[in-house]
Amino acid sequence: MTATAPQPSLAAADGLPAGFRFGAATASYQVEGAAREDGRGESIWDRFSHKPGAVVNGDTGDVACDHYHRWASDLDLMVELGLESYRFSIAWPRVQPDGRGALNPRGVAWYRRLVEGLLERGIEPIATLYHWDLPQARQEVGGWAVRDTALRFAEYAGFMADALGDVVQGWITHNEPWVVAFLGHAEGRKAPGIRDWPTAIAASHNLLLSHGLAVDALRSRVNTPVGITLNLNPMRGDAAAASLLDAHQNRWFLDPVLRGTYPGDMVEAYERIFGPLPINPEDLDVISRPIDFLGVNYYNPTYVRASSEAPLGVSTFAPRGAVTAMGWPVDAGGLYDMLLRLRADYGDLEIWITENGAAFDDEKLVDGVVEDPSRVAYLSTHLEALRRAVRDGVNVRRYHAWSLLDNFEWEHGYDKRFGIVRVDYDTQERIPKRSALWYRDHIAAVRGGGA
Ligand code: FCB
Repeated sequence: MTATAPQPSLAAADGLPAGFRFGAATASYQVEGAAREDGRGESIWDRFSHKPGAVVNGDTGDVACDHYHRWASDLDLMVELGLESYRFSIAWPRVQPDGRGALNPRGVAWYRRLVEGLLERGIEPIATLYHWDLPQARQEVGGWAVRDTALRFAEYAGFMADALGDVVQGWITHNEPWVVAFLGHAEGRKAPGIRDWPTAIAASHNLLLSHGLAVDALRSRVNTPVGITLNLNPMRGDAAAASLLDAHQNRWFLDPVLRGTYPGDMVEAYERIFGPLPINPEDLDVISRPIDFLGVNYYNPTYVRASSEAPLGVSTFAPRGAVTAMGWPVDAGGLYDMLLRLRADYGDLEIWITENGAAFDDEKLVDGVVEDPSRVAYLSTHLEALRRAVRDGVNVRRYHAWSLLDNFEWEHGYDKRFGIVRVDYDTQERIPKRSALWYRDHIAAVRGGGA
């Protein structure tokens, strides 16, 4: 055990503020596996991934990276890379199998071991309460489309604060509620696979309400930082289309959380297209409870144009130029633009980059290291953009690379590899990629340990 692992010196260095930490992120369903072990309940992603045709190659998260059994050596790997912070998520059905009622002590104990293991290694544990794996039993009674799920989520948040509040050092209520609401309930590409816009809009509101209620539940129990993670994309292209998609994807979540209002242009557009919104304005008070940091997941800018066929009248397209294996444009300037925009529009908030990274197909195993030059370039240019934003006054305090490990990339299965460490899914062997070694050296250089 590396109880002696040095606490990194987090003094201001290399243009970064004091207290800035470098880390990596994962999510429960994408890495844990052990889907039926130790009393874990079924999640909507278990159900969805087992539906024929839902996921590429019929892949599921049943085994994933087997992190549930390999957590200790995975944490050792983080120490070798010099990581200072680890963002993981708690699988709600692992700790509360039906999404209500008694906790599953074996599930809770596993997270306690994980978090204590991080602390012993000098790594900051940041827990996300919801990274998309809703207990299936909650879905059976309406899932995020019904208000009661927000109340159950707040109860679960309180239980987790009681169980782990003495060891977890930062809490994130939700990961990317836009994806949950709209890709899960309007486009049906993700669990629970529903295709109904009014349901998606209702879900977005209940997710936001559940965030606010969870902030209250956490605040009454812990003194550690509490925030929410949004997927934010700067919009590029035709101005009217860009503004509408910005309202739908970015401002629909930023405004209620940070200003206590829904964007008027989007309310108007939704009502025009889908009819009256199922939103109780009194909830905005709860939704806008103060947070300590805003988590930002940044991958790419979105290019947009008017389209008469799309439900909102806008569609996206891939521009010319470099794209990742997901077809996402590579554009570090978008990160800078988004960070500056957040400061200009929402004031001096503390920001954590809770995900940033890329999948590429050009990885090659050479002498025991996976060479992934595109990912090295992606990470280095994005870290540079982050530093530029810090120099220009944005208060950024964390950077979590997505992801520590190759993992189950939702409907794309195991085909899309985002890890800085390669996972051989036949043997579960972890093989560092050049990007992991580059990141290790980068962190060491910043901390004065030499590269
Ligand atoms: C984000 C998700 C994360 C991962 C990356 C690639 O939208 O939060 O789980 O799938 O995209």
